[in-house]
Amino acid sequence: MSFFSYKTLRELLFRLDPETAHTLAGFGLKMVPYSPTLLKGVKNHYFIDSPYLTQEVFGKRFLNPIGLGAGFDKNGEYVTATPALGFGFTEIGTVTPEPQKGNPKPRLFRLKEDMSLQNAMGFNNRGAEYMLNRLKSLYFLDYPIGINIGKNKITAQERAIDDYKILLEKFRDFGTYIVINISSPNTPNLRDLQNEEFIRELFKMANGVTSKPILLKIAPDMSYDSAIALCSTAIESGASGIIATNTTVDYFLTPNAKDFGGISGRLLREKSFEMFKVIGKEFYGKTTLISVGGIEDAKDIYERIKSGATLVQIYSMLIYHGPDMIRRANLELIELLKRDGYRNIAEAVGANYR
Ligand SMILES: Cc1cc2nc3c(=O)[nH]c(=O)nc-3n(C[C@H](O)[C@H](O)[C@H](O)COP(=O)(O)O)c2cc1C
Repeated sequence: MSFFSYKTLRELLFRLDPETAHTLAGFGLKMVPYSPTLLKGVKNHYFIDSPYLTQEVFGKRFLNPIGLGAGFDKNGEYVTATPALGFGFTEIGTVTPEPQKGNPKPRLFRLKEDMSLQNAMGFNNRGAEYMLNRLKSLYFLDYPIGINIGKNKITAQERAIDDYKILLEKFRDFGTYIVINISSPNTPNLRDLQNEEFIRELFKMANGVTSKPILLKIAPDMSYDSAIALCSTAIESGASGIIATNTTVDYFLTPNAKDFGGISGRLLREKSFEMFKVIGKEFYGKTTLISVGGIEDAKDIYERIKSGATLVQIYSMLIYHGPDMIRRANLELIELLKRDGYRNIAEAVGANYR
């Protein structure tokens, strides 16, 4: 049963160009909370309330482990609706110190046959001040929120750290966790900051600014050795977790790919999971791990959890399957946990290493 037929809605949305469809869906998400009755109806349908799925992470209660990945809600405008869609948390952003328009359009593409997306958005967002006011207005919301931060495109590479400092100072008391994004392929040279020297300097600065958990989000396009070295440095320097992974620039994954931007969704699934397994094996038990990339059902989620993920995130497959996938995934996750004799999701985290 479905609250509404996402298939029909998808048919309509897929007739529009992807960014217009996103804006329209976003408008809907902004509007829903204005009608408490509608919001309640949506929640009653999509939200799964179960002690099997609830766990405490970063000192906060997460009602389930499935989050909405960064980049969907760039300005924190949908967070009163996304819990009703069944998500356990949302990562908002990437937010930059100053507002910026992002790259020229078109910059978001559907790779329909591959059930994937390719984007070159370039951190289009309303800036830190807007986000801060938004977060202040959400004081009543008891819902875990990650704040994903990045540098402005016009900020010189040598001054990148200043942008992260501005953002950390701004959000020092907000959200459940903060994410350092240096893994987007769509801000020139951003990924070059994925080096141990910068990471050391960054976390040294960050630890002096806020006591919020700070996580590092990494790209899937580096050697496993480099990824391990980078994450080790981050953890030694005070990072509270790793998010793996961002989109990939491996354009050989499909003949349908453009030669710019980052690919996400089903095409990223294997690459992201392989990288996650390497990270999980190395860092499970030493830090908190979040897995993201091509996740589309409870089986995927359960595999990632057993490989060390405390939480997972979804973006692209939501576009293809609609919010009912979150409800289904949560219900099926409970069945998988019961099947294997777990009483709570936290018991399954890292099960492959025990
Ligand atoms: C249109 C689009 C915009 C994105 N924007 C961001 C962003 O601003 N910051 C970020 O860290 N990741 C961003 N991502 C990456 C996602 O958060 C996620 O890491 C990636 O898409 C892999 O997950 P998926 O296969 O479930 O989509 C974006 C992804 C898409 C498709």
